[in-house]
Amino acid sequence: MTDAALGQTAGRDAWDAGEQLGTAGLRALQLERLRTTLRHAYENVPFYRDAFRTAGVVPDDCRSLADLARFPFTEKADLREHYPYGMFAVPRERVRRIHASSGTTGRPTVVGYTDGDLDVWADLVARSLRAAGARRGDIVHVAYGYGLFTGGLGAHYGAERLGCTVVPASGGATSRQVRLIQDLAPRVIMVTPSYLLTLLDEFERRGVDPRSTSLRVGVLGAEPWTEAMRREIEGRSGIDALDIYGLSEVMGPGVAAECVETKDGLHVWEDHFLPEVVDPVTGEVLPEGAEGELVFTSLTKEAMPVVRYRTRDLTRLLPGTARVFRRMERVTGRSDDMVILRGVNLFPTQIEEIVLRTPGLAPHFQLRLTRPDRLDVLTVRAEARPGAGPEVREAAARGLAAAVKDGIGVSVEVEVTEPESLERSVGKIRRIVDLRPPR
Ligand code: DLL
Repeated sequence: MTDAALGQTAGRDAWDAGEQLGTAGLRALQLERLRTTLRHAYENVPFYRDAFRTAGVVPDDCRSLADLARFPFTEKADLREHYPYGMFAVPRERVRRIHASSGTTGRPTVVGYTDGDLDVWADLVARSLRAAGARRGDIVHVAYGYGLFTGGLGAHYGAERLGCTVVPASGGATSRQVRLIQDLAPRVIMVTPSYLLTLLDEFERRGVDPRSTSLRVGVLGAEPWTEAMRREIEGRSGIDALDIYGLSEVMGPGVAAECVETKDGLHVWEDHFLPEVVDPVTGEVLPEGAEGELVFTSLTKEAMPVVRYRTRDLTRLLPGTARVFRRMERVTGRSDDMVILRGVNLFPTQIEEIVLRTPGLAPHFQLRLTRPDRLDVLTVRAEARPGAGPEVREAAARGLAAAVKDGIGVSVEVEVTEPESLERSVGKIRRIVDLRPPR
């Protein structure tokens, strides 16, 4: 791939290059890379050749960025159908690493990376870390799971690329994590927000104020979380809590990240990924600012290019602030996680915001769906803060139910549970427990 536009930035760190472009330079670079990617996918992946033919397009039909809308979408089901290696665009020998998504049902989806892909990935995680306020020389504690999940290894190589000292703690073994943090004194932690809460609880249980640790920056992602959760985490730990987004099908962590200067949504690393937001039902491309489903086309991936990959994540695109790159708003939820309760759409993040502003409740909750009399019932099980007596708990239960009715427009049951009674996260948290019998 020739990157004439990047020549002018020679001498900077590699992950800087795309960041130094102005908007016009960026759009030109995107178009050049997009056309290359479409040709690469069409020529080397039978799935894309067939899909383009069915849609009546060839790669050369893409003459402007807007032309991308003429190309077909790719869905998770397409990746599953071509399991394991059917979406690869290079000979298997050039694939240096495999990751896979857990896949709650059926086949997992497998993704692959060439040496070049791993290089770009490390660059983009390095860029994300630096945007979050991490610096060369920092000690970085990685508590994302290592293994087929992209979180651990993706974070790891990015932190090494930035020039940090990496502690590859992985997820779980909470008391060991706390000891490692106390002994090794990391400045940065990379972890899911829910597991960070588990760690903060563990510090407090040992009588250690989390604000007294060496941690100053949290690079948190892999699951939806809210501004209310940011306030909770920052208030309790004294760190700057920054959002990082990504998905295995597109790369892994580091597709988009927040900047510590602004904390106003995630800058999409647009020199490598072209974002669109579409109407989840009609597939129509929506204008900047409108909420819909996020769709990505990779611009530099070699092993597994993706064309218009439907993420199922709901967000909106916004203009750049701290960087030229456009921002995506915090992901409010996945269309898969949406609960439809008596006709009302509800996301766990909406409940999270309400739980966190209800006095007497800890930031731990679970949504339980049952169907006692052929009617769906949602029970919010929220934990009492330690020391909250019966009256506070009763008021919390009433307040939470009323706020959900008011804010979301649906009646829910509320159960305030004992402190430390709900299952703790060690990675991605599962908020919804669906106990409804199949219809
Ligand atoms: O979760 C990659 C990752 C690892 C991102 C570590 C950030 C940090 P998957 O396991 O393929 O990859 O899951 C991807 O997780 O489509 C979103 O639904 C959700 N997700 C990831 N980051 C965020 C975020 C990794 N910051 C799926 N906010 C995505 C909300 C997120 N949801």
